[in-house]
Amino acid sequence: MNILTPPPSGPALIEEIAHLKRVRNAVILAHYYQKPEIQDLADFVGDSLDLSRKAAATDADVIAFCGVRFMAETAKILSPTKTVILPDMDAGCSLEDSCPPDKFAAFRAQHPDHIALSYINCSAEVKALSDIIVTSSSAEIILAKLPADQKIIFGPDRHLGGYLNRKTGRDMLLWPGVCIVHEAFSETELLKLKAQHRHAPVAAHPECPPHILDHADYVGSTSGILAFAKTSPADTLIVATEPHIIHQMTLAMPHKTFIGAPGADGNCNCNICPFMALNTLEKLYVALRDLQPQIEMEEGLRLRAKKSLDAMLELASDSVGKGDLGGR
Ligand code: 13P
Ligand code: SF4
Repeated sequence: MNILTPPPSGPALIEEIAHLKRVRNAVILAHYYQKPEIQDLADFVGDSLDLSRKAAATDADVIAFCGVRFMAETAKILSPTKTVILPDMDAGCSLEDSCPPDKFAAFRAQHPDHIALSYINCSAEVKALSDIIVTSSSAEIILAKLPADQKIIFGPDRHLGGYLNRKTGRDMLLWPGVCIVHEAFSETELLKLKAQHRHAPVAAHPECPPHILDHADYVGSTSGILAFAKTSPADTLIVATEPHIIHQMTLAMPHKTFIGAPGADGNCNCNICPFMALNTLEKLYVALRDLQPQIEMEEGLRLRAKKSLDAMLELASDSVGKGDLGGR
């Protein structure tokens, strides 16, 4: 295949990706927020904690990470000898962007008596400046293991941090970052939708602001939301997170109806993550063919970032499969 040859299309593209996957001994990981056609050909679809664990456990030579850059970096930190490719290197995250390492280091220096707990949605540099990484499914489990009087900086998501403060009674200092996707849900439109579907519970991600979480029957990570939908007796549910997760929900529960919570224009399209959406099957094909774009990381940085990720994996080791912040 010449580098200038355009990717095939349709079923031939799927076949070529499967072929390249075998040739490269690659594993394809996809986050729940990826397009359905990417989820459908992935070896594993999961949330941030699942994918970190999967990245650490796989014996493939190549990890093709269909997600965003901080996720692929996490895979590289945990699997340095593997080649980690991301279909589009511009697939970033507003939370990562909100937290430049130099500003975070200065903030830490102002609070020397605090430890830093950082949401996994941050750069490798910020991970290296942190003591413990958390995901939305491991945060509460990890907080429960820290002394009640431990002073904590939590970044970069102020909504997840605020939710955890309210839920656990802690008073963590919050970095002011937000997820632009979860920030875009409209309370007014959500209330209109609830009025139309009076028996439909609302399942929300903790990256949502408090005025959305206040109307949720369940708050949890993407896999927590999926698990809640499975156990809920309701046949219609309102889902306040990135709407591509509804693909997995519909596959698992074809008899149920899932309605994406609306944005300000009453249309849930504004809640599609623009970073996740940069990945396409064509770009995945090219990445597997050329082993580019590839995550590269300086070894000293990797080892510093790994310490805080290892702390999470150790402290959250008893949370396997829970994917859950435990409701409201
Ligand atoms: P989880 O899949 O861990 O819930 O994270 C959601 C998210 O926004 C990932 O970027
Ligand atoms: Fe970042 Fe939000 Fe997109 Fe997740 S959904 S990758 S937190 S911008």
